[in-house]
Amino acid sequence: MKKLPIYLGGVFATLLISATAHAACDVDKPGYELNGDEAESVYDCLKADLQAGYQEGPKRWISEDFVNDYPGWTKASAFPAAPGFHGGRFLVTYVNAIGADEYLKYKPEDVQVPAGTKIAKESFAINDDGKVSKGPLFLMEKVRAGTSPETGDWYYMMVAPNGAPQAVNVVTACSECHLENFSEQGGLGYPVEDARIR
Ligand code: HEC
Repeated sequence: MKKLPIYLGGVFATLLISATAHAACDVDKPGYELNGDEAESVYDCLKADLQAGYQEGPKRWISEDFVNDYPGWTKASAFPAAPGFHGGRFLVTYVNAIGADEYLKYKPEDVQVPAGTKIAKESFAINDDGKVSKGPLFLMEKVRAGTSPETGDWYYMMVAPNGAPQAVNVVTACSECHLENFSEQGGLGYPVEDARIR
């Protein structure tokens, strides 16, 4: 776990590049000063547009159902929380019916989510001036054992705020961090503790 904060800087940088401003939901304080209720208010303001953006245009190798259906799944985040320290990228996680029971236990070890589990993580940022911007949608799908041993049998996908599927090297851009930091949790990072729905 020790290396995580360093790595998170990298993900954060990637995110800012693909962020899309959304002035209507701006707030009057820096993102890092928001409490859970305030972050939830921003999310309420942003949500419909954020989700509509992800759904726009062809998804190519990503299942359209995945992107269209996840807002109806079980929400694992009580409010949008920013696990990083500065800049404030907020995350909201949804998990499908196949994986919800196991995921929502947030177990620290012996995690065995069933094949067919799908998880979607929305993101947005609120900068130090209170300006809100949309971030990518991060997706994980648990596939049948042995299908992708290199990634712990997880498929990783990413969709930009404008709906464009993002071609990334999922091993270096996603899987390595998940497996290295969360191997005992079956590759799962989980929302920060305060923000978990139980
Ligand atoms: C630097 C480490 C790191 C990298 C790189 C990374 N993630 Fe994550 N990921 C995390 C952490 C930490 C969490 C839990 C954060 C939270 O929800 O508060 C997480 C959570 C997730 C979740 C919710 C399921 C879970 O693990 O609890 C999904 C989906 C996800 N990441 C997808 C991706 C995708 C897709 C990529 C590549 C484009 C990626 N991640 C790259 C660290 C990383």
